[in-house]
Amino acid sequence: MYSRIAGTGRCLPERVVTNADLEHVVDTTDEWIRSRTGIERRHIAADGQTTADLAEGAARAAMAAAGVTAADIDFIVVGTTTPDYVFPNVGCIVQDRLGAHGCPAFSVEAACSGFIYALSIADRFIASGGARCALVIGAETLSRMTDWSDRTTCVLFGDGAGAVVLKPAEEPGILSCHLGADGAYRDLLYHPYGVSRQQRPGETAGPYIHMKGNEVFKVAVKTLETIVDETLAANHLERSAIDWLIPHQANIRIIQATARRLDMPLEKVVLTLQDHGNTSAASVPMALDVAVRDGRVQRGQLLLLEAFGGGFTWGSSLIRF
Ligand code: ACO
Repeated sequence: MYSRIAGTGRCLPERVVTNADLEHVVDTTDEWIRSRTGIERRHIAADGQTTADLAEGAARAAMAAAGVTAADIDFIVVGTTTPDYVFPNVGCIVQDRLGAHGCPAFSVEAACSGFIYALSIADRFIASGGARCALVIGAETLSRMTDWSDRTTCVLFGDGAGAVVLKPAEEPGILSCHLGADGAYRDLLYHPYGVSRQQRPGETAGPYIHMKGNEVFKVAVKTLETIVDETLAANHLERSAIDWLIPHQANIRIIQATARRLDMPLEKVVLTLQDHGNTSAASVPMALDVAVRDGRVQRGQLLLLEAFGGGFTWGSSLIRF
């Protein structure tokens, strides 16, 4: 038994903040942001709008596309680093709002790789017969943990949610998922406040994302090159077999490096970072949904999804759509 994607969806906050808007917030320019990152605008959640609100919107869109109702859903997993509460987890909130009571519902915290981690878990449940209709969501409100006075990070992030419905199939479907992590890099990208650790005496780092951008950049490029090679090798495929690369949308230069490794022109890469910025766990499912709905991604095509983020964590998935 395999799992296959039966439908996709996304939900973005209405408010759009352009690079020009940010010129009034910090000492930056549209030119710097575009040329260093590829980002032109991002969506930012309204006051009171939460990760669960966006996750619910994406879930409903994916369920409509898949033609399933709440009664069909028997598994919910959400990749997120910005939950509404410590508990109940975002999956439980979405489950309640959808009226899909009783099925397992939980969150996975793997920063930008959260959706790929969640997809991998749901795929294994479906493949083993443990679930028959899974809702897999990546949802974030990173704007809530962004220091809006720090130009090195605030220009990068945005809010949003993407979702897929996974169902069983006799043919793949999801061909393979590959996950990895290395906690030794934790100082390069982190958020210092947690329930258990709290703030240490004398510690000055604020409750925001802290990132040594260019060091993260180098490890991201190297790791993503390795993981796409591994994914192709595990499936005995040549680079030319891939129809679409659907990468985590952190930086156009990181994406270009991965595309070069795959010998792929940028026309075969789904890019949304110009419109969404880096939305962490939401970026890959939102990019997938954009390309499905605009008709670029077609049934039967081979997709390579990949992500890299805080932890460090990383992951990829090869999918026959
Ligand atoms: N506007 C203008 N100047 C800026 C800005 C800004 N917004 N931000 C930084 N600068 C300046 C710096 O101060 C520095 O100035 P200096 O040379 O006088 O010191 C100069 O620009 C260059 O800064 P760098 O940090 O070296 O710039 P770089 O080319 O590395 O780009 C960036 C920075 C965009 C952050 C890049 O390093 C990057 O994308 N890194 C990877 C991010 C990533 O993939 N994160 C993982 C996922 S995120 C997650 O998990 C939550």
